[in-house]
Amino acid sequence: MLGVDVDASKVEMLSRGEVPFYEPGLPEVLQRNLDSGRLHFTTDIAEAASFATVHFLGVGTPQKKGEYAADLRYVFSVVDELAASLTGSHLLIGKSTVPVGTSVEIIRRLKESGTEADISVAWNPEFLREGFAVADTLHPDRIVLGVDPEGDQDAVVAQVEEIYATILAEDTPFLRTDLATAELVKVSANAFLATKISFINAISEVCEAAGADVSTLADAIGYDQRIGRRFLNAGLGFGGGCLPKDIRAFMARAGELGADQALTFLREVDSINMRRRTAMVELATKACGGELLGSNIAVLGAAFKPESDDVRDSPALNVAGQLQLKGAAVSVYDPKAMDNSRKLFPTLGYADSAAQACELADVVLVLTEWAEFLELKPADLEPVMRGKVIVDGRRCLDPAVWMAAGWTYHGLGGTPRVVELPRR
Ligand code: UDX
Repeated sequence: MLGVDVDASKVEMLSRGEVPFYEPGLPEVLQRNLDSGRLHFTTDIAEAASFATVHFLGVGTPQKKGEYAADLRYVFSVVDELAASLTGSHLLIGKSTVPVGTSVEIIRRLKESGTEADISVAWNPEFLREGFAVADTLHPDRIVLGVDPEGDQDAVVAQVEEIYATILAEDTPFLRTDLATAELVKVSANAFLATKISFINAISEVCEAAGADVSTLADAIGYDQRIGRRFLNAGLGFGGGCLPKDIRAFMARAGELGADQALTFLREVDSINMRRRTAMVELATKACGGELLGSNIAVLGAAFKPESDDVRDSPALNVAGQLQLKGAAVSVYDPKAMDNSRKLFPTLGYADSAAQACELADVVLVLTEWAEFLELKPADLEPVMRGKVIVDGRRCLDPAVWMAAGWTYHGLGGTPRVVELPRR
């Protein structure tokens, strides 16, 4: 196997066995494959072209600046470079999350490039979650493969099945379909997940107004197997490099296809999500007694979710930045995302531990639910803090513990019930 990237420093790190980001379990997998001599890295796409006959395409498709649409320049640049370097028969398998129609555009580009090679195109979307990348790769819920009806479909499917046979359980569902469906499966799955989160966050706004408890409500509706409890955690909402930009790119593509009305609800999903950040800033302001100027705020969590050092579109950092702009002194701590946070928000204050972030703080905000924050006890923070106020942006703490120690506890989306209701 040969991994190709344009970033020479990343290629050097990977070749030395260092993963350039935090992903549990991945360094071990990398080292094992380097040691066995099965895996190498290069910046030279021509080397990849002569090395392999199957090429996985997994470059990023970020949101275009100032627009909702996805920026496909990296996808097309790989395709153009490969077309110029390949000879003989090859299979190009897309894994990137792309607007529907991209693979057909790739096929058109390949034809127009005048390449001598015979290149088949298939689409095999990637569903892994950050923080669980290894497990999700080795034990996926399903494999989806879109194939080109004008090519030798059976040969392409056989080739991909052979590749996966070495790593997957025999009973992993393998769905063979057309290119457009495969592309749409991925963005639809992400749109559904984003909708589920915004649904429960919208309900949390009603719960808060009515004095109801959205966490108990989520448990109760989640027991219905048609609904399911996963992705019903109310709080600060979704961020990261996928869900926010994917729902926007999906809306943009539907508009191009003349089906824009179909996805107008995703605009609402997006705005419910962004409203959570405003609500968090308001709740933090309230927790500071209504005045941010002169307040010291500790922010625990900067990554967009636990078990990741990714701060792209991080709700936690967005809130920290807003609070600082409004006059608060903010000190941020995250177990893994400090370097990335410093690069993205250089003017925020940073600390080396949760306790250090809380030094002289009036209020502490928990904005990413890292396990080490769930284990914090009032007695850990009382010696260093100026106030005894905690705001739980992820509804992940036990309010009873904090209240029993004389703290003021605020939960985003309403304070969860402390007293267990009698059960039958
Ligand atoms: C997502 C998809 O889950 C994955 O299948 C796809 O391949 C890439 O995009 P990822 O971005 O790694 O994966 O994170 P995910 O675990 O989906 O969480 C996304 C965001 O939603 C996080 O900010 C998380 O904090 C938030 N979230 C998740 C909630 O606010 N509530 C929940 O109940 C679940």
